[in-house]
Amino acid sequence: MAHRLGTSSSDIVAAVDYLRSGGVVGVPTETVYGLAASAFNVEAVSKIFRLKGRPASNPLILHIHHQDQIEQIASTIPKSLPRIVEEFWPGPLTVVLKSKSSVPEIVRAGGDTVAIRLPSHPIFQQLLAKINEPLAAPSANRSNHISPTTASHVEDDFPKEPFPILDAGPTATGLESTVLSLVGVPTVLRLGATSVESLRQILPDLTIKTPSHQSDSPGTSKRHYAPQTPFFVWSNQNLTKDEGVLIFGTPTPDGVGHIWDLSDNPFHAGKRLYAALREMDQSQLRTLYVVLPNLDGVNKNDWLVIMDRLRRATQSG
Ligand code: TXA
Ligand code: MG
Repeated sequence: MAHRLGTSSSDIVAAVDYLRSGGVVGVPTETVYGLAASAFNVEAVSKIFRLKGRPASNPLILHIHHQDQIEQIASTIPKSLPRIVEEFWPGPLTVVLKSKSSVPEIVRAGGDTVAIRLPSHPIFQQLLAKINEPLAAPSANRSNHISPTTASHVEDDFPKEPFPILDAGPTATGLESTVLSLVGVPTVLRLGATSVESLRQILPDLTIKTPSHQSDSPGTSKRHYAPQTPFFVWSNQNLTKDEGVLIFGTPTPDGVGHIWDLSDNPFHAGKRLYAALREMDQSQLRTLYVVLPNLDGVNKNDWLVIMDRLRRATQSG
């Protein structure tokens, strides 16, 4: 089982030592927990892929603590980057740039681009500053499973692996970073905690790659974030006591045995979404449903990420 560290400076030093010796460490971020390794240590990065069961075709995000580190990683700096960095970093935005060839191929999954993020979580920032090199870190879940928002979610996904986890409590946004490519036309490859509207203020020609053509960001494949229990969008099916339903402040279907209400506030709901999906999955129910949020008269943009994750977690296609 993974063992938990706290967030004291000696815990951070212990995590740095572990990373320097080629190990992987569970790390808190403002979005979801990550599984970190030294980005330039190919052996260490390969452990991430092995532990997660992640296909080699799915590249990793490099996390940095200072924007000066971009030069170590990216070969070309697009004109729009300084404003993006000024506006959104530190924070839940990942930027895809042309990569230097010195970034290990395993990180880039053999491609010529690299994803970079400067996170805002104070403990992760301390770790990144102390180790003073980029850390590769995907979400700390088994491939295609639900992203972890607490240290115990990480332990649940890796019950046998003895790596340390810096436990800083539940994460703040509960949803992953937005992935923005600045190679060619600015394109959102994954919806996430930074809104498309806020990016558009700086990038008026921003496009979004919808889930139907998402080969550029392999983590955005269908049936991601999925519970093991069959999970459907509720469309007036009759429900029974051994079934569960996820609602967003909406009325509950009759007859259902178990209810998870995430509220009609998209920010509160986003924070709790993954924990609720994990709880629902563990509760041994026969079938799970979601009553989609009622978007009449609300700002639909605030619900985009949640709708995206629900679409991919359910069997609605
Ligand atoms: O919030 C987050 O982004 C979390 C925390 C730990 O930072 N990380 C995370 O990593 O969600 P991961 O690996 O679970 O998802 C990263 C996404 C995947 O969809 C991956 O395909 C995409 O970013 N990605 C990474 N490098 C890329 C690249 N060079 N080009 C296009 N997409 C890339
Ligand atoms: Mg992930």
